[in-house]
Amino acid sequence: MGGEKLPRLCKAGVSMRNIVLIGFMGCGKSVVGRKLASQLGLKHVDTDAEIERVTGKTVAQIFAKDGPIRFRSEEKLLLKKLAGKKDMVISTGGGMVLDPENVEMLKKDGILVHLYASPDVIYKRVKGRRHRPLLNRGDLKQRIKELLEERAGAYNAAELSIDTGKFSVDDVVSQIIEYLKERKLMD
Ligand code: S3P
Repeated sequence: MGGEKLPRLCKAGVSMRNIVLIGFMGCGKSVVGRKLASQLGLKHVDTDAEIERVTGKTVAQIFAKDGPIRFRSEEKLLLKKLAGKKDMVISTGGGMVLDPENVEMLKKDGILVHLYASPDVIYKRVKGRRHRPLLNRGDLKQRIKELLEERAGAYNAAELSIDTGKFSVDDVVSQIIEYLKERKLMD
């Protein structure tokens, strides 16, 4: 069989810590997570998608019908369900790490990687998309700026930060893998 050899996990038969992607909306957590998981042969969990699957509602419906507090409690519940599980790439929703208890849970089993981008890049990526309730009010540029200011510091929980406005998805994935190798978390 041809094809590229997959990088092995840290030690044969030993579980690898999760790779957890955190960051603001529109910074590429889902697309990078999917690709990273497939390259490493790990399971990919996208927390928004998983919440939608479990509740049978879209994120926008949960925010509109049940309110943001309910959505945040679904996020926490999901992390509790994932506790102790390894060998996953987890793409979190942008607000997941606003709760310190969530950060603690994610750090327990995983390595946090922050994907970020400039407000302009974020604006270009999210405009025209209506599935993010927090961005559907007021002037979009202003809203992004406000939320970024409000959240300043929340994403510092990560040990690696990558500007996804400057690199392709493949390059971001390679940089994460390189970092895992440097940290001897992978051969
Ligand atoms: C949110 C980000 C969204 C989603 C929800 C709330 C946030 O996920 O969880 O709309 O508070 O930043 P993405 O970051 O995947 O867009």
